[in-house]
Amino acid sequence: MTLSDLEAELARLLSSYRTQMAMAASEQAIRKVYADFGGSSGSMRLAQKEALRSAPNTEKKAIGLATNQILAAVDVELEARLQGLANAARAAELRRTVDVTLPGRQRRLGRLHPITLVRRDIETIFAQLGFVVAEGPEVETDFHNFEALGIPKDHPARDMQDTFYLAGSTDIVLRTHTSPVQIRTMLTQQPPVRIIAPGPVYRKDDDPTHSPMFNQIEGLCVDEGVTLADLKGTLLHFVRRFFAGTDGAAGLDVRLRPSFFPFTEPSAEVDMSCVFCSGAGCRVCKQTGWIEIGGAGMVDPVVFGHVGYDAERYSGFAFGMGIDRMAMLKYSVGDIKLFFDGDVRFARMFR
Ligand code: DAH
Repeated sequence: MTLSDLEAELARLLSSYRTQMAMAASEQAIRKVYADFGGSSGSMRLAQKEALRSAPNTEKKAIGLATNQILAAVDVELEARLQGLANAARAAELRRTVDVTLPGRQRRLGRLHPITLVRRDIETIFAQLGFVVAEGPEVETDFHNFEALGIPKDHPARDMQDTFYLAGSTDIVLRTHTSPVQIRTMLTQQPPVRIIAPGPVYRKDDDPTHSPMFNQIEGLCVDEGVTLADLKGTLLHFVRRFFAGTDGAAGLDVRLRPSFFPFTEPSAEVDMSCVFCSGAGCRVCKQTGWIEIGGAGMVDPVVFGHVGYDAERYSGFAFGMGIDRMAMLKYSVGDIKLFFDGDVRFARMFR
């Protein structure tokens, strides 16, 4: 191939390079066209290499000079196209206008669910009394949920808690209360113990004040010399703090009504004076002036036996309350299902 043949060939390639460059619309496309022609294994580079390889030594210099000139045009074209692209992008950016008189777009902030708010309120009040938050699994063994709490199989107390069993099992349940967390805690820790255990619990129950899933908070305090008076004082402090700021909170009182739980002796239902009528009697408290908020008592020595605590040395109190119920009372919500329906219009009403 003569030098002029080579030059003609390169000129032809250069012209189709330019045509393709003109059509390439993106940086990626531009770089691809460049690679096809001017890149180290592009067609023009290959033609030059091929010519240099087969030419006699005396002609190599002339071939190199002449073809390098053409190849320089390829690089110039690349730079020009890239620069053009950058300029266009910049021009588009500068053309963008902002109408500063438009009203801003409002973004709605997320909120905590009312049950979360109330749970945290309760946790805070007890944390300030030295209680730490403890958690346990929602799928429990029969041992933790019943047996260790003094409720053996066939005990009539099991009827109080309509239990969901896992399919095919008589031994694994959805916990019916948070009391198993007492057991789990005492099995792993020596006194003194002061815990509150919040969380979901499950029962086959369904009406305006009962949901098959609801939330309880359990309290447990074990130490030397713990008495029923400590229980009552703790609960009184709690309700006064929890309802502080709401109407009727000022003279709130608590009373313990004798009751039965297999895991406490003595046991009590916990009532607080009605926040809606200050104890005068109204529809909410069914004219009694009292509202039941949970169960409580002194930990039964049988329970201490199951967890290996010395019942001669230690005593303790325990209580359990419904978090949803406390939320209903605090915010005058009449139907527990409202908490679980997932209607944001409802959830947004709380802060
Ligand atoms: N676990 C009981 C229930 O769900 C509530 C309860 C009563 C918890 C007395 C206690 C307690 O810790 O001492 O019905």
